[in-house]
Amino acid sequence: MTEIQQNTPKKRIFSGMQPSGEAHLGNYLGALRRWVGMQDEYDCVWCIVDDHAITSGGDPAEMPSSVFDLAVSFLAVGLDPERSTIFVQSDVHEHTELAWLFNAVTPVGDLERMTQYKDKAQHFESIPAGILNYPILQAADILLYKANAVPVGEDQRQHLELTREVARKFNARYGETFPITEPLIGEDVGRILGLDGNAKMSKSLGNTVGILADPDNVWDKVRTAVTDPQRVRRDDPGRPEVCNVFALHRFFTEENAREEIEAGCRSAELGCVDCKRILSGNIATSFAPYRERATHYREHPSEVRDVLDQGAEKARKIASETMQEVRRKMGLNWRNAIP
Ligand code: TRP
Repeated sequence: MTEIQQNTPKKRIFSGMQPSGEAHLGNYLGALRRWVGMQDEYDCVWCIVDDHAITSGGDPAEMPSSVFDLAVSFLAVGLDPERSTIFVQSDVHEHTELAWLFNAVTPVGDLERMTQYKDKAQHFESIPAGILNYPILQAADILLYKANAVPVGEDQRQHLELTREVARKFNARYGETFPITEPLIGEDVGRILGLDGNAKMSKSLGNTVGILADPDNVWDKVRTAVTDPQRVRRDDPGRPEVCNVFALHRFFTEENAREEIEAGCRSAELGCVDCKRILSGNIATSFAPYRERATHYREHPSEVRDVLDQGAEKARKIASETMQEVRRKMGLNWRNAIP
């Protein structure tokens, strides 16, 4: 008896990252590292979300290079256009169109409950609607591709819950259309703080290091990193379990060496400066292949453009199919009135 070959299609996943230029350590540890490893198992769609970025009011003159630099970072770490769809959100207009249509099924109360909204809103005297509606655009990103799952960090769990609610409401009102997307929250990476000890590592806080930084720059940043606050003098014993530098060693330093560092820290044989030197060296070494690939892409920017153009074309194909279905279900097909 011959076995029936069943080609179960891969599950589709979608994720997005705001363009803030070259990716940094936090982007890498929290997202990119994982995304690269998902490309064989899933049908992956990776999006640089510039339409989202405008809500935080950056300088328009810097947007193009911020998008380009993030695209270089994507390619440098190994997001692979042969296996994944890689594109820029504003190239596929269906994102903003679907977001508008989702306004029809999204309760304002749900948006106002989002903790990120409440945090961001504090910084404005007059709150732009885009800050409130941000999660609707995110729902549109995901559902436009009918993504089954979304790899995101814990901080995005609530936005994902809203995406699921939008899908349920849409399906209930207009008929079964969208999947109820699952969050793929990564294993807890053990709380990586900013190098200055701030809870969040981000480029705008200046407490991180670019993944393409050269070894001297990596050292400049890592040198300043906050360690165990109770280790004041060189011969005070340290507590690796509360040290952010030690937490970072988990990703860049082999286990044996790490055990030595841990013991050396506790016994005060190893000082913080030397410990940071080891970390800085290991970061620079493990990112060396990325720097090399990034150099290639910076010297051949048209290759980056081609990747993003082809990615947008692939994305548009899926997006336009979804939109035809959505417009029809919502009655946005007036030509049907003509016999
Ligand atoms: N809001 C996400 C962030 O700030 C970025 C994002 C936009 C996103 N659209 C998305 C993430 C869709 C996952 C899926 O990190």
